[in-house]
Amino acid sequence: MENTRTAALADKFAELYGAQPDGIYFAPGRVNLIGEHTDYNGGHVFPCALTLGTYAAARRREDRTIRFASLNIKGGVTEVSLDDPSLFLDGSHVTGPGFGASDWTNYAKGVIWAFAGRGQLLPSGFDILYEGNIPAGSGLSSSASLEVLTGLVLRELFGFASVSQEDLAVLGQMAENVYVGMNCGIMDQFASAMGKEAHAIFLDTNTLSYSYAPLDLKDADIVITNSKVKHQLVSSEYNTRRTECEKALAMLQAAEKDGREIPSLGSLTVEEFEARKEAIGDPTLLRRAKHAVYENARTIEAAAVLKAGDIERFGELMNASHDSLQYDYEVSCPEIDFLVAEGRKIDGVIGTRITGGGFGGCTVSIIRSDVTDSFCRELAAKYEQAYGVKAEFYIVKPGEGAHTLS
Ligand code: GLA
Repeated sequence: MENTRTAALADKFAELYGAQPDGIYFAPGRVNLIGEHTDYNGGHVFPCALTLGTYAAARRREDRTIRFASLNIKGGVTEVSLDDPSLFLDGSHVTGPGFGASDWTNYAKGVIWAFAGRGQLLPSGFDILYEGNIPAGSGLSSSASLEVLTGLVLRELFGFASVSQEDLAVLGQMAENVYVGMNCGIMDQFASAMGKEAHAIFLDTNTLSYSYAPLDLKDADIVITNSKVKHQLVSSEYNTRRTECEKALAMLQAAEKDGREIPSLGSLTVEEFEARKEAIGDPTLLRRAKHAVYENARTIEAAAVLKAGDIERFGELMNASHDSLQYDYEVSCPEIDFLVAEGRKIDGVIGTRITGGGFGGCTVSIIRSDVTDSFCRELAAKYEQAYGVKAEFYIVKPGEGAHTLS
């Protein structure tokens, strides 16, 4: 299967650019099991890489031209010179809110810019053709996979051996934060770069220390349900949530009398937060901060109970995570809440919640394997009746992080 896809992409590349590619590369999307909106608050996350993702065929050129194209996007080939001022490779700085996501090549250009920022200037241009199989707007990190993949391609084509897999994640995040202007945390890029087959990643986003957790649920499946509601609000509302958390943190810091430093909301235990929360005068900010602190605690507990084989408790924590995202963090939407509420009524559903940035996208559920089929059938029927939309279902097989295919 993988070989057929690789060969087909190489053929399309040759058709488009008139030569065989130097290599074929892949970076996966991700699904987050728990730990939502904690990564930019210095907390923990617990995602795994998917086997869905983005592929690229690429070839080094002799001149200073870069050509981008994608089989998923009409619009042909986008060409840019390495000397074009919009790439900011001359040591000047990107200022302002970033170039936005309306031009998909900004994600790739941002990675070239981020490489240059750590001294890795491209000696020449290249041709690249992308093809992805992550449903667009589903919240399964197609943009992070594009960034990490572009970083992998640059490393391999130009021999930047000092760039580690973790660096691919950090450079991808930098591209998205500064060049594109979306203030995301590190989770998506980290999962895409560092994923491991059959494992989830328990990551402390404050230190980037991580461990792999075997994801063998024996009699249960992890199922993603795509609501098909595209998470369009995500960048503006997302940046607002981030600012709200920063404001709440600043209030906690200002009220601290015993000299303790509170570097992030993720550095507080639930008890420490409860003892200090009066300092957050605004009720909305209080709910945002509460989510960040409690979700971090849930994530730490979730990793521990998974290790101990307590799937039921894991499911309870997932449910609590959703409720907090729905009511306190307010990043859900009616369609997703419907999928969660109806899903919970089905016997054998151990836990179900929204996953990813929010405002649409997907739910992730843990379901007893013997009811997985009926869960998909029943929920699809109810959802179609309520919203006239056919939801899609994927059974998750955690996959490998970004790698070269050939
Ligand atoms: C998006 C961001 C991540 C993370 C999630 C929410 O996917 O890219 O960094 O903040 O939202 O958990």
